[in-house]
Amino acid sequence: MKIIGNISLDGDKSISHRALILASMCKGKSVIKNLSSSEDVLSTVNCLRETGIDIILNNNHAVVHGDTFSLPSRELNCFNSGTSMRLLAGLYSSMQLPVTLCGDSSLSKRPMDRIIEPLSKMGVKIKSNDNKAPIKLIDFNLESISHKILVASAQVKSCLILASMNLVERSIIEQDIPTRDHLELMMNSLSDNVIEKNDNRITVHGIKKGHLRGFDINIPGDISSASYLIALSVLLDGSILVINNLLLNPLRTGLIDALISMGADIKIDKIETIKNEKVGRITVRGGTKLSPCTILKNEVPNMIDEIPIFSLICSYVEGESVIYGLEELQYKESDRLLGIYNILEHMGVNVDIKEGYSLTIRGRNKLYNTNNLKNLDDHRLAMMISCAQIIAGEDVSFDDCINVSFPKFKELLNSVLVD
Ligand code: S3P
Repeated sequence: MKIIGNISLDGDKSISHRALILASMCKGKSVIKNLSSSEDVLSTVNCLRETGIDIILNNNHAVVHGDTFSLPSRELNCFNSGTSMRLLAGLYSSMQLPVTLCGDSSLSKRPMDRIIEPLSKMGVKIKSNDNKAPIKLIDFNLESISHKILVASAQVKSCLILASMNLVERSIIEQDIPTRDHLELMMNSLSDNVIEKNDNRITVHGIKKGHLRGFDINIPGDISSASYLIALSVLLDGSILVINNLLLNPLRTGLIDALISMGADIKIDKIETIKNEKVGRITVRGGTKLSPCTILKNEVPNMIDEIPIFSLICSYVEGESVIYGLEELQYKESDRLLGIYNILEHMGVNVDIKEGYSLTIRGRNKLYNTNNLKNLDDHRLAMMISCAQIIAGEDVSFDDCINVSFPKFKELLNSVLVD
């Protein structure tokens, strides 16, 4: 088996959420091309529609008429999407719209204190289920904030930027470790002087409600979806995969950077900047011998969603690889740290969770058992398992939960996988 293909991917999920949310705040019409077709992004579309925003969706093309918020007639269901819940909590705080945000059983278990606490500090009265969803925004006495975020989370940062956006006084948001900055980049492509970035400190100067105008954007391909195809191409001898128009924001390329440092044959060209985002073409050739690697805590946010597939790659690399600082993985769609450990253990990989939150993988270039692996209803674990089955030459399963981020996974894989 090998991968041979020249493909493009649907738009990045993180950027898609942000484009929809910003478009909803803008007066007039925005056109979003290559929007992600993921269920998560559809959750954001549906919540915005419930609150008065007109969104016309035609495959990956969205036309949004913004700045028309109204009260919803029911709870807003974010289903599996943490990004929808946390970013929309910021948006609706800024719009002073009393809404209730709920989600599925996975989302209802995830920590929301990380946004409830700072939003409360800003004067939003919130009722929650013991700091978990559903979260109800009840009343608003909105004031700017100076806040240091203690977890490395772009969702929390984006929530607070959105909540601060319409305030006269500036807000200051700090983080020890930088996280994806798509909202900052997109916002600054729309209007100068709203967001100022200085190392790990962001100042939101705010803009008067109704002052932003609609925009056009073509969203670059989803780098997290690409990671599964890149991994297979690196591991399967004889593969050549070209991915065009791929997002290459340096705060998202941790997996590619790590693979290159391990000796993978990955070339990047046709680099351009679109709406402040770095975009390019990558060419991956398979079969080179990889060396083991160490990923440090401050490198994890740049590949946070790629850790499952990266651990699988490490399982096929002879020698000991260590990934430090994985505590945030516990709070994803499942306890991903445990999920990865159980999958690799079950496959027969020599794996340990050490010093609390680091994963040590002693890989070998041999086949592993891929029967009965558990995906915990988590899309990223499910795609990791599909890739493990392909490498093992077993029947491949495609769980429905994959639609949460990458509905075209099966179709695309089948188009590039050759015997
Ligand atoms: C996301 C941020 C990350 C990531 C998630 C998408 C975003 O979550 O895991 O899939 O779009 O902001 P955290 O901010 O909680 O780390």
